[in-house]
This record gives sequence, C-alpha cells and structure tokens, in this order.
Amino acid sequence: IPVDPFDLVIFGGTGDLARRKILPGLYRRFVAGQMPADSRIIGAARSEMDQAGYRQFVAEALREFIPDLRRAEGLSDFLGTIDYVAIDAQGDGGWAELAGRTRKDVVRAFYFSVAPALFGDLAERLHQHGITDASSRVVVEKPFGRDLATARDLNAVLARHFDETQIYRIDHYLGKETVQNLMAVRFANILFEPLWNSQFIDHVQITVAETVGVGGRGSYYDRSGAMRDMVQNHLMQLLCLIAMEPPYRFDPDAVRDEKLKVIRALDPVRPEDIVRGQYLANGQPGYLEDVENPASRTESYIALKVCISNWRWKGTPFYLRTGKRLRARTSEIAITFREPPHSIFEGEEGWKENVLVIRLQPNEGMNLRVMIKEPGPGGMRLTEVPLDMSFADALGETGADIPDAYERLIMDVIRGNQTLFMRGDEVEAAWAWADPVIEGWEARDDRPRGYDPGTSGPEDALMLLHRDGRRWREIR
Ligand code: BG6
Repeated sequence: IPVDPFDLVIFGGTGDLARRKILPGLYRRFVAGQMPADSRIIGAARSEMDQAGYRQFVAEALREFIPDLRRAEGLSDFLGTIDYVAIDAQGDGGWAELAGRTRKDVVRAFYFSVAPALFGDLAERLHQHGITDASSRVVVEKPFGRDLATARDLNAVLARHFDETQIYRIDHYLGKETVQNLMAVRFANILFEPLWNSQFIDHVQITVAETVGVGGRGSYYDRSGAMRDMVQNHLMQLLCLIAMEPPYRFDPDAVRDEKLKVIRALDPVRPEDIVRGQYLANGQPGYLEDVENPASRTESYIALKVCISNWRWKGTPFYLRTGKRLRARTSEIAITFREPPHSIFEGEEGWKENVLVIRLQPNEGMNLRVMIKEPGPGGMRLTEVPLDMSFADALGETGADIPDAYERLIMDVIRGNQTLFMRGDEVEAAWAWADPVIEGWEARDDRPRGYDPGTSGPEDALMLLHRDGRRWREIR
C-alpha cells in the first residue's frame, strides 16, 4: 500500500547511515511501489554539492549496498526524486533554500542522521525558518544520550520545538520482522500466553552475537561499550516485548506504556551477575588495537542476569548477552519452560525441557523443542524433536522478501505510526536502569576479561548460568 507523498530531508545525507541504510531502504520501497514518485528526498549536509552530484552519490551508494541492484530497476525514476541542499547546521547557510525546496502540502519528515550535539541547532533553525509545523516529523537515531542526564537533555532540546507525537526515536531492532513477530506470536495465539509467566517458564536467554569487531568505529565504540551500544536499547527492547503485559490494543501508546512498566520493574543488577569481556588479538587486531587505546576498560562483550520484579516474572531470570567477534552472527531469544510437575514415564532418559527459540537473524523463524516417543519397539523412550519453521520456507516468496528494518521504519514515519519507535520516557527509564550498572563497575574499577575471537565470549560468562544450574545455548 503506497504511503502519502512526502518530503524527507536527511540531515547527514552524505553520512554512513544514509549510504548504508536510509537511501537503499527508500529505493527498495520505491521499487516496491510504496514510495510515491512525487515524493522528494532531500539530502542536507555540509559539503557543497549540486543536485546532479548528489544523485550520483546516491546511485553509488545503492550500487555498493544493494547487492542485487543488477537491472537497476526504476533507478533513474528514483534518482528523479533526489535533491540536495548544502546546509550549515550552526549558521544560516542553506536554510532559506531548504525552506524553498520543501512543500507545505505533503508530509514533511526530517531525519537527524547527525551527532546528537546538533539536534538542538537543527530543531531551532527548522523552526526559525518556518520549515516545520505541527504535522512535521523528526527522526532521531541512537545513541540517544549516554546516560540518563544526557538523554533528558536531548529530550528537552527536541521538546522545545516538537511534540512527543512528532518525534520518532529509532531503535532499528524494532523494525526487524521477527521482532515484531514476537508480538504476533504472543498475542495472536492462545497457545503461549497462558504459559507465559514464571510458573511455566524457567528462564529466558537473549543473545545478540556478532562476528564483526569494532575496527573503523573505535572512537565511538570505546566511549560506549556493549552495555550502552546494545543492551540499553536493542536487548532492552527485546526483553520488553517478551515480558510486557498484553496491551489493550496494538496502538503506539498502549504498546509503549506496557514496555515502560517492564523497564521500571527491572531489579538493579548485582555485580556478580555481570560479566564483561574484550576480544583479544588473534591474527587480527584485538579490541585494544581496534580502539587504539591500550588502557581501555570498555567491554566488547557483556552478559547479565536480569530479574523483573512483578507478579508475572518474579523467579524467572532473563539472561542477556551480546558481543563482537564471537563465533557466529546470530540473534535469538530462547524461552526454556519448566519440567512437567510429574512424570508418568519410568526413568527420565532422553527427557529435556521444552524450549521455544525465536530466531531474529539469520534464517528468521521459530523452533519449538517438544518431546515425543522414540519410534520403534524399544518401549516408551522419550526423544526430542524440533517443530521448526523458517519464514522463508513457511511463507514462500513473501517470507524471503522481508523488508529491512529501516525500510519499514521510515515508511512508518511517513504513515505517522509510532508503535515501533521509543518514547522519551522509555529511553529515560532504560538509562535509569543502566546508569547504576555502569557506575557500579566503574566504581569497582572492574576490568573486562579477555576472550578469544571466534568463541562464545569469556569463560566467566558460563558461570553466570552454571551457578544457577543452567547452560547458555551454543552460539553457532
Ligand atoms: C547498532 C550497533 O545499533 O547495531 C552496532 O551500534 C551493531 O554496534 C548493530 O553492530 C547490530 O545491528 P544488526 O542489525 O546488524 O544486528
């Protein structure tokens, strides 16, 4: 379904995110017929460039980041929607021109793909030059602050010129198909919800493992680390979708209210429930070389045991882990159910708990481990089988053609649907939880443990579960 025609201004239009994600995403939506041809994408950045120059820049980005751009279907039509304005975020240059290029009778969206320090300047100048009004939308990216204080400042800066209903804070994990599918699985089936609590669920593991290192973005990453870069936002959102109460409706504030309650119910994390690591050198540079800071204590890996103090989840820990340079690129949520209350079978040979695994990437799908009788005349022996579903197999072409997170989220901005965007209070609550955890290890002068690249992280992380009589799932 096509969205309404729009003008999208990308501040930071020559930046990395624009090249890798925003522009390729828009192109795909254009080819899919969702972006109307009378829409305009206006790159805005410091570099002096004309429209033709930027169109060429965009074409090159598409060639680089869309591997199947073979036939260049619709490419020249798409490029026809592209414009460029050289802009000085902190001065007056370019603003009058931008005002002249944006239309008042279409949806106007402004993507702040720039350093957060510039959010205030951009918002202020857009306002001064009359480029925005009450129906305009502004899109901002993570990192949304580096702690509660800075997140509050950013919220305040945006609130000066935009209402909360105009602000779209992107967490691209919420745009991933399987992440949204979590809500469908939970709330469109009768099967799971009655069991979705600490009476039936033993524990939950959330893993986001990456094979890449931090080379190339060392200076950003070393000031963040895995906790700020991944846990406070992406993993927190996954946890919320698993743990939240059913919203009364699939409506932006109804969903976000429920997520917020989860974040507020998180217990402080105890020091013994945190394991941090740094990847070592192994043929390739290690973390310390990648960030060019031999004294760095920033973590490229973190595992945490997180507890939620509410009626539904008391007694069911959530184990979270994420890291760079691990064995495989895999993201999944694994929900391990409890033992049946009584076994009618002799011995328990072969018995294992039911585990529901939701694979976020790669090979998006779900897998439910169930116990059946081992076939054959050998008596009643139990064996496990997977009920396995991959989107690509189950849904054929529709499943294989899953839109990238950014594509969907940008279209949601144009549609004015905030369900998959973080509200200001949510982001602040997540920092309010993360801050003491980070301050705690800084005060203890904690050093991350080294781990070999290509493994599943520091050995100590195993203990986090062993101690509780549980095991991490293998990363593969
Ligand atoms: C980003 C982080 O938000 O998410 C990166 O800053 C990380 O460090 C990336 O690599 C992971 O996203 P994805 O979609 O590749 O899982």
